[in-house]
Amino acid sequence: MFGFLKKKRKSLTGIDIGSNVIKVLRLEMSEERPVITHFSMKDLPPEAIVDGEIMDRELVIQTIQDCAAEADIPDEPVASAVAGRAVIVKKIVMDKMSEEDAREAIYWEAEQHVPFDIDDISLDFQVLQDDVGADQMELMLVAAKKDMILGQAELIRDAGFFPLVIDVASFANQNSWELLSSDSLASVADVMESVAAEGDGDDIDGFESEESEMVDQEEGSDQFIALMDVGGGVTNVHIIKGGVPIFTKDLPIGVAHFTEEFQKQLGLTWDTAQQVGRGNLEDVDKDLVLDIVRTVGSEIYKGLEPSLSYLKTAGEADGIDRIVVSGGGAHLPGLTAYLSEIYSVPSETADPLAGLDFDPDLFGSDDPAHLSPLLTVCIGLALREGVNS
Ligand SMILES: Nc1ncnc2c1ncn2[C@@H]1O[C@H](COP(=O)(O)OP(=O)(O)OP(=O)(O)O)[C@@H](O)[C@H]1O
Ligand SMILES: [Mg+2]
Repeated sequence: MFGFLKKKRKSLTGIDIGSNVIKVLRLEMSEERPVITHFSMKDLPPEAIVDGEIMDRELVIQTIQDCAAEADIPDEPVASAVAGRAVIVKKIVMDKMSEEDAREAIYWEAEQHVPFDIDDISLDFQVLQDDVGADQMELMLVAAKKDMILGQAELIRDAGFFPLVIDVASFANQNSWELLSSDSLASVADVMESVAAEGDGDDIDGFESEESEMVDQEEGSDQFIALMDVGGGVTNVHIIKGGVPIFTKDLPIGVAHFTEEFQKQLGLTWDTAQQVGRGNLEDVDKDLVLDIVRTVGSEIYKGLEPSLSYLKTAGEADGIDRIVVSGGGAHLPGLTAYLSEIYSVPSETADPLAGLDFDPDLFGSDDPAHLSPLLTVCIGLALREGVNS
């Protein structure tokens, strides 16, 4: 958009500022598959980010710097993300017009659909169907709060990096998923390109659009896929179909809520309860653990229910066809199976490392297979540039 960097980069570092764990990961694009060249992750104390709000900015900046120093991240531009609640994705129908005219008219249209002051948001859209009858066309509207994007860019700058891309975490999750699924229409990057860039002149290049060479060949490309990132504090549900985001929502339920219940009901210390959440079931009542996971997990189901009913009534989605669980919550014993059961659809754990090359020593004593679902957003960020370049 601002043409800051027309040439595609061959490498990019993603910085995922999770409320529990900060991750930094650098990818280099090779002929075959992207290669992880640098990696580090560090826990953040619970008081640093509460309910998605940064409470202790200095600590967050220090932890990013500690991660970057440990991983020896080169002095290059980086990609990071704001949380899903900074963004609204909505399908809308409006009068048929040229894309140029729609770019102006969209602000008037958006007022009816976005619960924020129009002056406070950046908007973009993609035409999904240029003729849906009655002289109308269908668009995907994406609205992002400007102050969150600008605040994030400043944080990254204060940590000593150049914020080349400010993404939305749920879109980074989708990007990561598409690395493996070849279910990509490159639509998210296109639509979001100006959202970040608009906010801050040519300082941020926003979302580079990528002409994907991947063929939409997955048999599941007409399926509604629910990408569920169960993080430390929040579960982000991002529903896509054929590479197009249909819906995105943050639910206030994360691993911490499960851990609290393990602690209470099993009489454990916080540390041991956390180990249970990571799948360590030695010396605990397994049936009770599974019960707790179902009970707390049902809050995800209940939280999502009104939105799914709405999508059904609006004729936008009949339901979910497949679930992919990422984030630290992917290790909660029985959660993925529970979600599969309650929605009566297949579910799986995200494994973005399966699409990358890396030296396992990069992860020290940690098992890469265990870390893989936690790295989904960070990998999606590091993939933002350089793909197919
Ligand atoms: N190997 C691991 N290392 C660190 N945390 C883990 C691990 N396995 C499971 N967890 C649990 O997962 C949670 C962190 O998950 P994740 O990294 O997805 O959260 P986050 O990105 O920090 O949070 P959010 O996305 O809600 O802001 C922690 O609560 C932690 O107990
Ligand atoms: Mg996260």
